Amino acid sequence: MKQPQEIKKAEGKLGVLLPGMGAVATTFIAGCLLARKGIAQPVGSLTQMGTVRLGKRTDNRSPLIKEFVPLAALDDLVFGGWDIFPDNAYESAVHAAVLEQKHLDPIRAELEAIRPMPGVFYPEYVKRLHGTHVKTGTTKAEMVEKVREDIRGFMKQSGCSRAVAVWCGSTEIYIEQSAVHQSMTAFEKGLIDNDPSISNSQIYAWACLKEGVPFSNGAPNLTVDFPAAYELARETNTPITGKDFKTGQTLMKTILAPGLKARMLGLSGWFSTNILGNRDGEVLDDPENFKTKEVSKLGVLDTILQPKVYPDLYGEVHHVVRINYYPPRGDSKEGWDNLDIFGWLGYPMQIKVDFLCRDSILAAPIVLDLALFMDLAKRAGFRGVQEWLSFYWKSPMAAPGLVPEHDLFIQLMKLKNTLRWMRGETPITHIGHEYYD
Ligand SMILES: NC(=O)c1ccc[n+]([C@@H]2O[C@H](COP(=O)([O-])OP(=O)(O)OC[C@H]3O[C@@H](n4cnc5c(N)ncnc54)[C@H](O)[C@@H]3O)[C@@H](O)[C@H]2O)c1
Repeated sequence: MKQPQEIKKAEGKLGVLLPGMGAVATTFIAGCLLARKGIAQPVGSLTQMGTVRLGKRTDNRSPLIKEFVPLAALDDLVFGGWDIFPDNAYESAVHAAVLEQKHLDPIRAELEAIRPMPGVFYPEYVKRLHGTHVKTGTTKAEMVEKVREDIRGFMKQSGCSRAVAVWCGSTEIYIEQSAVHQSMTAFEKGLIDNDPSISNSQIYAWACLKEGVPFSNGAPNLTVDFPAAYELARETNTPITGKDFKTGQTLMKTILAPGLKARMLGLSGWFSTNILGNRDGEVLDDPENFKTKEVSKLGVLDTILQPKVYPDLYGEVHHVVRINYYPPRGDSKEGWDNLDIFGWLGYPMQIKVDFLCRDSILAAPIVLDLALFMDLAKRAGFRGVQEWLSFYWKSPMAAPGLVPEHDLFIQLMKLKNTLRWMRGETPITHIGHEYYD
């Protein structure tokens, strides 16, 4: 990443394109529309509510992030996207049952006007859903072209000067990288040959990258996390980031685990289970789709606790993650955690966490921050994997050969220091030289 000499201004409208317009996407859109009208606050959004300290503590300079870096204003966002069901954003929000009617009524007309474009849908990737609002075409290459046409059409119709995309579609079945993912040439050929290892989300992502539209991946799917996508992102000067929004249980995990480690307290087991009843829960009830999520959720502890460096404390951690589809709960998930920890002389202790959270309420501000930061990244001339945005991810993508950072507090420091660096301010190291002189 090169330090930007100049960051282009956020002029004109910014299109926010959402492949998958279910619970998260509609909660995000509704929240932006309500905040715009001053009816509700964008709580949980760093770009809207966060500050960044500059210089020494005694300088008293802590501007709002949105005033420190040139971000698009909420008023300039235009929403669009795709889904495999034809419901408009109002109908979809009612179906998702996250927001109360008192929050949907004031923005009903605006939500109704947001209609998803037909989705790209190879059903083998999400077997529980039977999409009806889908594109037709003989090859995956043709699908990419159709999505590109959609993007251009949307930009023209809505008068946007720029666009970003955030995948909010269902979690796909677990796949690993294969030969087709290793280079742009192999991937382009795979699109023509209808290679079965190319998923729906990869088709959207490829189309976005071809159009130079920054792409964030809210689900744990491969989507943009493979060499061919890195190559295309560099070639088209497009930022990419992912994977899997860090909300709920994993957010708690990356808050608690660094604390235990900071105090050199040992861990012998961490059992996590969830009950949730939304469409996401239904999709994750399929073992092949759950596997994708499980891999993402399990990866977190190792890089925080570093078992190889601290074998006595973290060498044998039994880490189990379960998700149970339980319709009565809807979007109001319950995440239970049992931590078996040990202290001085190995004496055991337990911590129980019961987080009665709301999945989409936690995810919506992340979608907003990613949309705004990825647009900023593009205007600053950044391309490829944006590691400074790992703060938002359960499975942060990292440059090849690098271990991703999971500790929420290190991630936040990295994010804020990147913003300081972008604006030519000194990064903050928290060393207080002035007091030791
Ligand atoms: N809410 C959270 O806290 C959270 C956290 C991490 C990740 N996620 C991920 O975010 C994604 C969205 O979650 P949600 O609760 O909104 O789920 P949801 O089921 O309400 O919405 C997903 C939408 O994607 C659509 N879809 C599926 N395949 C598609 C395709 N090929 N093209 C276009 N649309 C498609 C579905 O029809 C649905 O409307 C899921 O993958 C979920 O795992 C959510």
